[in-house]
Amino acid sequence: MYDTDFWNERYAKDGYLYGREANSFLQDNAGYLCGPVLSLSEGEGRNAVFIASLGLRVLGVDCSEVGLEKARSLATTRGVSIETEVADLAQYDPPADSFGSVVSISAHLPSSIRNRLYPLIEKSLTAGGIVLLEAYSEKQLGNNTGGPKDIDMLMSIEKLRHEFPSLKPILIREVEREVSEGEGHTGLASVVQYIARKEG
Ligand SMILES: C[S@@+](CC[C@H](N)C(=O)[O-])C[C@H]1O[C@@H](n2cnc3c(N)ncnc32)[C@H](O)[C@@H]1O
Repeated sequence: MYDTDFWNERYAKDGYLYGREANSFLQDNAGYLCGPVLSLSEGEGRNAVFIASLGLRVLGVDCSEVGLEKARSLATTRGVSIETEVADLAQYDPPADSFGSVVSISAHLPSSIRNRLYPLIEKSLTAGGIVLLEAYSEKQLGNNTGGPKDIDMLMSIEKLRHEFPSLKPILIREVEREVSEGEGHTGLASVVQYIARKEG
């Protein structure tokens, strides 16, 4: 349903589907980030470009070549440097002990992909490394303001605790907030917000 063709077609339209400005949860908590940063499902680059503007090295991974081409173009316009990699997260193997932070903003994946990927994400963090994630919660199914219409791809506090068992949460909550991020995400939405550290 949400395959690479789906995303390439969505991003082929003019403009930036989720806007050019970074997600507000990421902006508000940028002080937690250490580089290098891996940004999952980067899309059209708004978050990676923001992270690069902080002076951090950032790699944006996404299955959509069309999205990542726009990401590189946004980086050029803003005068920052980002790295990009076209990859399906169902097969992606992040290198171990390599990232100070992993960012996941609206990077909704089915549990079959998360169950393989998230243990690798934990391993890819350096000691003290951070996962920063915002995703629509399961309650978002009742709203028409963005996010997948498949409960398996929506997140909850329980799923986060279960799927990142070795990380220590700094912040873990479910909130309703006004989202205004391009035409793709607009309106009152239910989200989970998560910041957690790899100890040791
Ligand atoms: C809702 S968009 C969010 C984009 C970006 N994180 C943002 O906040 O602007 C979801 C993104 O996930 C990517 N995606 C979906 N399934 C993927 C997969 N299996 N592997 C890699 N990327 C995927 C899509 O291409 C799309 O860019």
